[in-house]
Amino acid sequence: MDKILVTIPLFDEVVERLRQHFEVETCGEQAITAPGELAARLQGKAGMVVAGTPQVDALLLQACPGLRAVCSMAVGYNNIDVPACTARGVLVSNAPDVLTETTADFGFALMMATARRISESEHFLRAGQWTQWRYDLFAGADVHGATLGVLGMGRIGQAIARRGALGFGMPVIYHNRSRLDGAIEAELGARWVDKPSLLREADHLVIVVPYSPASHHLIGAEELALMKPSATLTNIARGGVVDDAALAEALRARRIAAAGLDVFEGEPSVHPALLTVPNVVLTPHIASASLRTRRAMADLAADNLIAALGRGPQAGRPPTALNPEVLAPG
Ligand code: DGY
Repeated sequence: MDKILVTIPLFDEVVERLRQHFEVETCGEQAITAPGELAARLQGKAGMVVAGTPQVDALLLQACPGLRAVCSMAVGYNNIDVPACTARGVLVSNAPDVLTETTADFGFALMMATARRISESEHFLRAGQWTQWRYDLFAGADVHGATLGVLGMGRIGQAIARRGALGFGMPVIYHNRSRLDGAIEAELGARWVDKPSLLREADHLVIVVPYSPASHHLIGAEELALMKPSATLTNIARGGVVDDAALAEALRARRIAAAGLDVFEGEPSVHPALLTVPNVVLTPHIASASLRTRRAMADLAADNLIAALGRGPQAGRPPTALNPEVLAPG
């Protein structure tokens, strides 16, 4: 029986399902992220379940020659060197689609919380500082009718745009490497603009681009300087897409009004300057965290691993493989 390693805490039911096919080693309550420990625990394993961590790179693959499948329950797979896996015949899968709507719900909620200063005002109330109704008490920015800017118009970006356009009457502008099909643009009422125009015109900017070396610090001091002083920025993509130090400084100096961040450079550490500015809503990478969706993500990772290692009804055909060619016959 193949042995596998589950590197993250996972639903018991999903682990039980994996046990029907494999000898399963779990990580307990603490995800395995340190490269040395990971390499040691992967010895003799044919597959592993991961999420947005750990790093799966050429060095790790070299140290674990028996590995045949790396299945992630995240949609973002910037932690996995897919070409290096392909070169070694290791199947990689991610978990697209099942989290699109849940993540869009959260992105929209975080943008609204940021615009309407919900965290900041709750802290004020809990601290016993609320003594009177005032016309300007935590007066924020309207969401309805404001211009929604979406940076990265993939599945999640489109789902956010749909919420803004259809639910809140927001004109939608977006920037993406490739333009959407005209019919989708029309459905969303979305207009493609170049990146500087997106930054200048958006009242609420939501960032949903995948992380790659090309998107590292896509938003830094220069970009923040183009935004309206009344604008908000929401990042549910990946830490590293935004230069957190530059953002903290822009928030401190009120060069933009506020930010909502679910992802951070170097998370779970958070840039200390972000913890000291009041006009930012901070959440611990939970955009896809409804119970139903997290279960669907875990089930999809398990389906992929079972199929990638030649078991179950989809044997040899993992449903969301990123490099299915490694399993192609011949
Ligand atoms: C994803 O699926 O990429 C989420 O960000 C969780 O890592």
